[in-house]
Amino acid sequence: MNKHECAAQVLQGCTHRPGREGRAFAPANIALCKYWGKRDTELNLPVTDSCSISLGAFGATTSIQPAASDFLILNGKDIATNTQEFQRVFSFVDLLRPDSMPLRIESDSGIPLAAGLASSASGFAALTLALNDFFAWGLDARRLSLLARLGSGSACRSIEPGFSHWRRGERDDGMDSFATRIDSHWPDLRIGFLLLDAGTKPIGSREAMRRTVETSTLYQTWPKQVDQDLRRILEAIQARDLEQLGQSAEENAMAMHATMLSARPSVLYWKPETVATLQRVHALRAEGCPVYATMDAGPNVKLLFEERDSEEIKTMFPALFMANPWEPPAN
Ligand code: PMV
Repeated sequence: MNKHECAAQVLQGCTHRPGREGRAFAPANIALCKYWGKRDTELNLPVTDSCSISLGAFGATTSIQPAASDFLILNGKDIATNTQEFQRVFSFVDLLRPDSMPLRIESDSGIPLAAGLASSASGFAALTLALNDFFAWGLDARRLSLLARLGSGSACRSIEPGFSHWRRGERDDGMDSFATRIDSHWPDLRIGFLLLDAGTKPIGSREAMRRTVETSTLYQTWPKQVDQDLRRILEAIQARDLEQLGQSAEENAMAMHATMLSARPSVLYWKPETVATLQRVHALRAEGCPVYATMDAGPNVKLLFEERDSEEIKTMFPALFMANPWEPPAN
């Protein structure tokens, strides 16, 4: 089954009733147990389950209106039709809109660029939600997550706020590969971002995943690692046990980077500042401050900690951006 057929299957039974405007917000998310490797590259079907926490008010707000021709405005900037960004957004929209109906899409990411946070997850989740609002499809969270996954894998975990669990699914058409909300609330949990390097990445996550799956000898052990880490992370979320959550999330991120390092050619995202930051995190922990690190496909480090330690951590890392996962978006 291809992307078009999958999208059509998800939208089966829906009527398109375009309004004057569709609008939605979706939060960014950080994986606690990572999605690394696809079993189907076209449908963004993962090799393993993953789970994440959303970032409260950090995310994307997207609005959609009818127009004479397609327009894309990102963070106030007109995006030219021949750019990769434009094509990626509209090839996703083409899966879902009737009769190539021209649309003006405007998206603002409340994520400061300086936080060094990837915005594709919140971007595709907000776009899916805004299309659902614009066309009045009335889709439930499961179907919205299935659609968002076709835009960007990790976007399926940004449809609902809070903790999210994306099950890999078994089916070839991916209809059982979507994220659901984990029923848990942990008001004191905080996520910090450290922008260590704002340069362009040597290799995008799509290509890095493909290379890892195809060439990394360590990748064979990745599904087993995920099974173990995911179990511990889900347990820790229910128990609100920061030590167990942080240890397992940190180990999982390090193991993901180990699979990349053993790819051929090797994928190395780390910078000297990355190593220095990880060492400071370890040193802080040794002094009794409960703070843990996680990383994605880039050199920047994200921190997991609790509100009561935020002052101490902010003193150690003055450039830290902090997200409260339970803070609602501005409006
Ligand atoms: O959804 P993508 O293609 O941006 O991949 C995201 C991959 C990681 O951020 C490294 C891990 C994750 O689970 O978010």
